[in-house]
Amino acid sequence: MTDEQAPLDAAERLDRAELERVQLERLRTTLRHAYEHVDHYREAFDKAGLRPEDCRTLADLARFPFTTKADLRAHYPFGMFAVPQERIRRLHASSGTTGLPTVVGYTEGDLSMWADVVARSIRAAGGRPGHKIHVAYGYGLFTGGLGAHYGAERLGCTVIPASGGMTARQVRLIQDFRPEIIMVTPSYMLTLLDEFERQGVDPRSTSLKVGIFGAEPWTEEMRREIEERFAIDAVDIYGLSEVIGPGVAQECVETKDGLHIWEDHFFPEVVDPITGEPLPDGERGELVFTSLTKEAMPVIRYRTRDLTRLLPGTARVFRRMEKITGRSDDMVILRGVNLFPTQVEEIVLRTPAVAPHFQLRLTREGRLDALTVRAEARADATSDERDAAARAIAAGVKDGIGVSVTVEIVEPETLERSVGKIKRIVDLRNKPS
Ligand code: DLL
Repeated sequence: MTDEQAPLDAAERLDRAELERVQLERLRTTLRHAYEHVDHYREAFDKAGLRPEDCRTLADLARFPFTTKADLRAHYPFGMFAVPQERIRRLHASSGTTGLPTVVGYTEGDLSMWADVVARSIRAAGGRPGHKIHVAYGYGLFTGGLGAHYGAERLGCTVIPASGGMTARQVRLIQDFRPEIIMVTPSYMLTLLDEFERQGVDPRSTSLKVGIFGAEPWTEEMRREIEERFAIDAVDIYGLSEVIGPGVAQECVETKDGLHIWEDHFFPEVVDPITGEPLPDGERGELVFTSLTKEAMPVIRYRTRDLTRLLPGTARVFRRMEKITGRSDDMVILRGVNLFPTQVEEIVLRTPAVAPHFQLRLTREGRLDALTVRAEARADATSDERDAAARAIAAGVKDGIGVSVTVEIVEPETLERSVGKIKRIVDLRNKPS
């Protein structure tokens, strides 16, 4: 499926100089559109003493103020929209873990651009017109299901809109409809894996050739696990509601070396998460996006809180972002040491005798925070193997991350399974024990 060369969009054939010309023109239009039609941007630019025309080069963008999730919440629900309500064709919302959801709106043009970038993403993953695509991202206010859906249709694929949940039925559908591609969160793919095994079906025997996984962080170890257990190519798709949804960046199946950002529509920067200073390509920090073609809800320098670095293009002219390490919100600070769930994932997944399911429990002992890694034993693991696994995980965390944690190996099938985005951290610090 991957031997033929992917046909490319016109934008994918631009050279770097042409791309930057397109970006600058679109950036200037977007700044003007935001300034003229959104009170928040007009006030923020005025306060910074800037007019849209002050952006003469791509580097000038760094002089403009950031936009944060708090800004979007302050204008809940529709205050960030730049077009009259009659032009809004669809709303989505991301279910903030705390407080108000973030609402996003799309014009007809936005929906079409979104379908284009998702189609481009699926093609980069190895999808071709005529393929059947099983979409197990949730349908609804979450952008995953519908975003994947219209992109797959735009490419000329047959969509199976399975959505999340009803796992036994998903396995049946995959066997009966024989899709080549699945689009799903990596954690739900593991739930499907368990179900294949429960039904006595060899997951390597399915029609699936490619999985397009995103909406949550996942590691190279997880890629290897999924590729091996399903006999598929596993590639990464990234996006966020505020910027459009899935399809902001996509890993190419032929290189699997990080995600090419569709820079003709989304302009990336990486900044120091504390000072906000722009960082040069290659340095790790917080990813920031400016939309270049959005009509309903342009975003200017939106702080994603996702941590990564920018790298030069390989399979495409567009710059890549490295696989995301985590979100600044998911970082646990334990006795002064920063820890991300992905770092624990790497360790758990290379430990024999445990399944790829784990949870991080944060508690408070006296005035100190403590972390317990709960990992699930594989069904056939002996008690000696479980003890060895607990020691190996504790040692891996101590040596690799530099902090002591407690490890509990729990019985098979006891940790909660994902049906969408998995929640790795259970914070019990404010609960009486
Ligand atoms: O998760 C959009 C999406 C749907 C992307 C399906 C890919 C596939 P939100 O619910 O707004 O949108 O959540 C966005 O999810 O800021 C990241 O923290 C995280 N995220 C998304 N994709 C990835 C990825 C969708 N490939 C937030 N790797 C983002 C790591 C990801 N984290």
